[in-house]
Amino acid sequence: MAKILVTGGAGYIGSHTCVELLEAGHDVVVLDNLSNSSEESLKRVQALTGKSLKFIQGDIRQQQDLDQAFASHQIDAVIHFAGLKAVGESQQIPLTYFDNNIAGSIQLVQAMERANVFNLVFSSSATVYGEKNPSPYQEDMTLGMPNNNYGYTKLVIEQMLEKTSIADDRWSIALLRYFNPVGAHKSGCIGEDPLGIPNNLMPYLTQVAVGQREKLSIFGNDYPTQDGTCERDFIHVVDLAEAHVLAVENRLTNTGCRAWNIGTGQPISVLQIKNTFEKVNDIVVRAEFSDRRAGDLPSFYANNARAVAELGWTPKHNLEDMLADSWNWQKQNPTGYKA
Ligand code: NAD
Ligand code: UFG
Repeated sequence: MAKILVTGGAGYIGSHTCVELLEAGHDVVVLDNLSNSSEESLKRVQALTGKSLKFIQGDIRQQQDLDQAFASHQIDAVIHFAGLKAVGESQQIPLTYFDNNIAGSIQLVQAMERANVFNLVFSSSATVYGEKNPSPYQEDMTLGMPNNNYGYTKLVIEQMLEKTSIADDRWSIALLRYFNPVGAHKSGCIGEDPLGIPNNLMPYLTQVAVGQREKLSIFGNDYPTQDGTCERDFIHVVDLAEAHVLAVENRLTNTGCRAWNIGTGQPISVLQIKNTFEKVNDIVVRAEFSDRRAGDLPSFYANNARAVAELGWTPKHNLEDMLADSWNWQKQNPTGYKA
């Protein structure tokens, strides 16, 4: 069993990964500055699992926060979720994104070197395939330039990590390229709790369903897809969390830098999401078609064969599970973690 430092562990994907790590018998230390999360998620992780974790309120851009975390705990590996993720905001304040995501990752990797910890799992994104690669995306495709600054930070960090591992063979790095994470823990105790108006489809849709927002705008119905709306590869957050456990265990016994796609491989349209959500949860979601959103690709999805073969990972949740679990979380927590 290993001791894992989880940066950004109080967030949506991080909190679900903490549950799976604790249930697999690992020790967990979370470092999070709570800029987009609340400590309540970690309290619930501990209540859910009946196990405790250590929480450090700190920032990956602060050398002393990182050094202190490594000095106080015998860390074997790091799972690095900490980052800003709002595509639109990254167009308005690019330097904030470069500082938080890129400079923060450099600080983290340097602190790991100082502490002699060389196993790292990084939260990457399908956005690194750029705009021109055909789906299904495969890990060995030439990467493209993402069309937004958030995506650009993911590409830069991936390349930086790869070059670092080439220069020093003590490194063992996993690049997990997530597709579209949705859903929540079956209990409904933890889930996605975005600050302000949600940018992403699923939290927006569940907030409409719970009566917090008036209606869902479906961005574009004239795409060259099955029903005219965009298609994405939605992945249940618990399946994604399990991929992190497998990836970190894989890294403890391997070296080099390896990318894995974490998606189901199934393209699902936005309209299909809305219609299936209504059917599975027996609820009507007010929606209207509106203009396309700038920067959206019509369709992308994963070839996940490498993760299946090399990590022994298989997604276990289907679309109905994803939509039922998203709703279960939102229904039980209409205002998220806020009382
Ligand atoms: P999230 O915002 O819920 O979690 C990120 C966490 O990092 C938050 O708890 C936040 O407080 C923390 N954080 C941010 N900057 C920090 C800093 N400088 N120091 C310490 N903590 C900091 O987001 P999420 O959806 O859980 O995403 C986790 C990671 O996965 C991010 O890196 C994100 O870019 C990546 N990712 C997410 C998606 C998605 O659709 N959710 C898709 C692909 C990749
Ligand atoms: N959508 C709507 N209405 C909404 C929100 C979204 O119709 O209110 C549509 C979008 O147009 C898109 C689909 O739902 O077609 C999914 O949109 P999301 O914003 O949920 O997710 P994206 O696919 O745009 O974003 C994801 C990740 C990012 C990543 C990006 C790369 O969340 O981390 O893919 O393109 F960078």
